[in-house]
Amino acid sequence: AVLVIDCGAQYAQLIARRVREAGAYSEIVPHSISAAQVREREARAIVISGGPASVYTPGAPSLDPEIFELGVPVFGICYGFQVMAQTLGGTVAHTGGSEYGRTDLTVSDTDSVLFDDIPAHQEVWMSHGDAVTASPDGFRVTASTPGAPVAAFEDPSRALYGVQYHPEVLHTTYGQQVLRSFLLDAAGLRGDWTMEAVVETQVEQIRERVGDRHVICALSGGVDSAVAAALVSRAIGDQLHCVLVDHGLMRQGEVEQVERDFVAATGADLRVIDASETFLGHLRGVTDPEQKRKIIGREFIRVFEQAERDVLAEVAESGRTVGFLVQGTLYPDVVESGGGEGAANIKSHHNVGGLPEDLAFELIEPLRALFKDEVRKVGIELGLPEELVWRQPFPGPGLALRIIGEITPERLEILRAADAIVRDELTQAGLDRQIWQCPVVLLGDVRSVGVQGDGRTYGHPVVLRPVTSEDAMTADWARLPYDVLARISNRITNEVREINRVTLDITSKPPGTIEWE
Ligand code: XMP
Repeated sequence: AVLVIDCGAQYAQLIARRVREAGAYSEIVPHSISAAQVREREARAIVISGGPASVYTPGAPSLDPEIFELGVPVFGICYGFQVMAQTLGGTVAHTGGSEYGRTDLTVSDTDSVLFDDIPAHQEVWMSHGDAVTASPDGFRVTASTPGAPVAAFEDPSRALYGVQYHPEVLHTTYGQQVLRSFLLDAAGLRGDWTMEAVVETQVEQIRERVGDRHVICALSGGVDSAVAAALVSRAIGDQLHCVLVDHGLMRQGEVEQVERDFVAATGADLRVIDASETFLGHLRGVTDPEQKRKIIGREFIRVFEQAERDVLAEVAESGRTVGFLVQGTLYPDVVESGGGEGAANIKSHHNVGGLPEDLAFELIEPLRALFKDEVRKVGIELGLPEELVWRQPFPGPGLALRIIGEITPERLEILRAADAIVRDELTQAGLDRQIWQCPVVLLGDVRSVGVQGDGRTYGHPVVLRPVTSEDAMTADWARLPYDVLARISNRITNEVREINRVTLDITSKPPGTIEWE
């Protein structure tokens, strides 16, 4: 793998993704990694990320200097560039010439490996207070900016390279090309890591690990569990048993769509358990959001365990055992929960409703090494339809979080109708991939006065909550075009009799969360 050493900025994940886009598999490691550990992991190349600190701040991330002597090609970025300079004997100083944002870079060395075939003047994205004022012995300075006389350096004989700017961000015009030059030309990687190869390796590993035992998977209707299940299905066919618990809180047509598309694409054994009456029964009269979540989580486990017992009994009849449970854990979850290899660190938030804690099964997590965009590619590779693979996130507790007040079958119907209109209009307008998700919230306990025809109405308002986001940790309200909003408002108030008012939530996250409950 290419190791991305994380020096504490939010850029490490972005760098790891860009490395993969160049066709090289990458993993994020902490800056405390030792040279021995790098050797053990058989790193093919190293990229050191940027970070918020100055190399002079007490406690600022430093690196094991022997990392630079392993013969493994290294590319330092921003803070990583400065750490390299300082560790190898160059000088870093507060020059007062800090640069933030777009900056003009001038390439001064036509023999540069990194800047091969790249125009001598280009726009780059900068974010630095300190600057390298003298490069270490053996390095050539290859580029400069007005505020950074040493904006890039390289020592091809030791395969050490660095740049002061951020090649991983889109505003840096030739950023990806420079990264490719490092990975392919300087480090000699082949750049042949593709989703096709990922599927092949995973299928092989799963087959070997599972043997003749059977596997259970809970499908949520979301992308991750569907792709994870499809991958396992490709590996072991009818040894996989999928369960979809229909809690009655899904959106219009959702269960049917998963049932149809997933089974058509994979041929997997899928049992849909309609438990809506049980769930709605337990939710009757409940208005507190946390209480709703708890009830749904508890009931989910109960229903899932019953399905599990059914599967176990069937499998036992054929003299086999069930040994594994599939989870759609992704790489960002692994990184954020500080989990290294093997650690089954699952954020309960990302589960369907939380799975039993005393699991009698081993976990299969075939997406543990992948980012969301890669999971989607794997899904397409496995033949899942675009509508499933490009699904926007939808919370496990479903529409329960989007009805403020008590959840009743009538309110669910109203919300489903409004939500279907919103989804339809956003798709028609081609906006699906530009927004992260668009919850539609029914203010069940609020009534507002309206006028329709000759009479006064006393209906419910709904709130549109379109957001843009990278990872749901932070979000901004999406600036949907007025004409799209107008169509949505018109259609909802015309087609859903009980709704007489459509409002727009214009709060970023923080302070507002994406969901209302
Ligand atoms: P918030 O509302 O916390 O949501 O800004 C962030 C993301 O998580 C989803 N979400 C949930 N997903 N169970 C889930 O599986 C939950 O209880 C839950 N609450 C929020 C939300 O849709 C958004 O994508």
